[in-house]
This record gives sequence, C-alpha cells and structure tokens, in this order.
Amino acid sequence: MKNDTANPTGSFKDRVVSVALTKARELGFKVAACASTGNLANSVAAHSARAGMVSVVFIPKDLERAKVVSTAVYGGHVVAVEGTYDDVNRLCAELASEHPAWAFVNVNLRTYYAEGSKTLAFEVAEQLGWQAPDHVVVPVASGSQLTKVARGFRELYEVGLLEEEPHVRISGAQAAGCAPVATAFAEGADAIRPVRPDTIAKSLAIGDPADGWYALHEVRSSGGAFAVASDDEIVRAIRLLARTEGVFAETAGGVTIAALAKLAAEGVIRQDERVVVYVTGHGLKTVEALVSLRPTATIAPSLDAFEAAVDVDGDLHRGDR
Ligand SMILES: Cc1ncc(COP(=O)(O)O)c(C=O)c1O
Repeated sequence: MKNDTANPTGSFKDRVVSVALTKARELGFKVAACASTGNLANSVAAHSARAGMVSVVFIPKDLERAKVVSTAVYGGHVVAVEGTYDDVNRLCAELASEHPAWAFVNVNLRTYYAEGSKTLAFEVAEQLGWQAPDHVVVPVASGSQLTKVARGFRELYEVGLLEEEPHVRISGAQAAGCAPVATAFAEGADAIRPVRPDTIAKSLAIGDPADGWYALHEVRSSGGAFAVASDDEIVRAIRLLARTEGVFAETAGGVTIAALAKLAAEGVIRQDERVVVYVTGHGLKTVEALVSLRPTATIAPSLDAFEAAVDVDGDLHRGDR
C-alpha cells in the first residue's frame, strides 16, 4: 500500500498543490484558487497560508464537515456553491478567464498541478528498490492521478532510473454512484458519458472527468481493468483496512481497497503480481461514513461493570482483533 493519508493535510493533494503553488509563486501569482471535491481545498488553503498567498477555494455545498473546517481554518476564502463538483468546475473555468491573475491550480495551472501526481510513481519505484510494481490500483475522480502514475513509471525508465522497461498494469477504482470511466470501460466505449454523482465517496464525485478519456486509455492499453464499489462496500473496505493494517482511510481509500478486493477475486490481479494500491486520503476527513461505530460498551466506572460488558479473553481465544 502507498499510504498517502499522512501528508500535511491528509491526502495526496499535497503533492499536486506543492508543485502548482511553487510554480505559481515563481510566475508571480499572489492569489491561489481551485475547484475542489474537498481534499484539494484543504491543501490549497494550507499551502497558500504558508506561502503568504490569498486563497479562494470553491467547493460543492454538501461536502463533509471536516473538509470544510480543515479548509476554513487556514483563513482564506471558502466559497460553497449550490451544485455538484461539475457545476463548481464550470464556474471556476469562467472565473479563470475573468481573473487571469489568479492561479487556479487545477484550471490554468493544471499542467503543473498534474505533474505532482507523478511522485506517486517515483516514490513507489524508489521504495521497491528502483523497480516498478507489476500492477497498481488507483482511485479515479478527474483521472489525472491515474494518468500521471502511469506516465511517472515510464519517465523513470526514460531517464535511466529504472533498468528494465516497466510494464505496469494500471487498474482504476470508482464509486458505483459515480463511475463514468468504469462504465465506459465495461461497455468497451470510447466516449465517457457524464453522470450525476450519488455516493458517499464525495472526493471522487466528478461526473464529467476532465482526464477521463486518458485514464480509460491507460487502463486499457496496460491490460488493467476497472472495479466499482457501492457505499456499503466502501464502508466495509475502510473497516477492513483499519482492522488489518492500522490505516484509517477516507471514503476514496474505501473505494480503492474494495476495488482491489474485487479485482483480486475476479482474477484480474494475479497471484504472482507485485501489486501497489494507492490509499490517498485520511479517514478523519469523512467520519460521517462511519457514524454507526460506537464504543464497545458504555459502563459504570467499576470492575464488575467492565468484566460483565467486555470479553477480551474471548477475542484472544477466537483470534479476533
Ligand atoms: C483522496 C482522493 N483520492 C483520489 C482522487 C482522484 O484524483 P484525480 O482527480 O486526479 O483522479 C481525489 C480527487 O479529488 C481525492 O480527493
């Protein structure tokens, strides 16, 4: 697992924003902006604060509470838009042409922003002793990350940092409630039909993905596949990952782990492959998904009450954790 939950603002977006805002400063921009499904907002607000830039981030108004709070805390402007991410994105495209002096990280600075995702490939190769994995599973919203992970492995070989030419199979993960690229893959179609998202994986809820076609192409040409996860499967996968690896992922991570499990069960992922799954955001950002979790017991402060309520020896005996 490539665990990207432990970045400064808890998601892989710190990679793309780090590159985009470094470039924005070099180019003389004073205002940083973005259209976000949540994680990008967190990161743009934080990096702008550190860089002394004014930030203006645009989000759909129904985002998780933690994503809003952990953007607003950095002091920039947070604008909640009545609509989906795709409405937010269209508004930002219009604003970017009205305000050419603003650095919209995923609009007019998108080329730099996208470069940041390549580090997800660079680091994985480095951590595997300068070898590429056989197969990766990557979450897909706009499709930028998946496309750049694939490109990253190829570029490492082109500059001589990988001895063998990599043939990494690239598989994509989407939520069942927002799966335009996975659907095109399943139907063998070339065109991606936009959808209206309805999923707890709000960070992946892009109905009309800008880089969807490229992501589809990377998956097909590398011999990978797509898998989708329902809301229930997302929650179960979050709990599975936490229970077995001690990593608490947000809903996007649940999508990716559920997709990994499905691809393995279907035999798409083979036994002999070295597989890397990208877990790209921290679970504290989307606790709403797990509201049903409660303490094991609520007890009076006494030994008897504890012994009556909790059977730790039984867990040990059964091998439960
Ligand atoms: C946690 C997380 N993982 C993955 C993605 C997918 O990124 P991309 O838009 O590059 O496909 C996002 C996008 O917002 C995200 O927030």
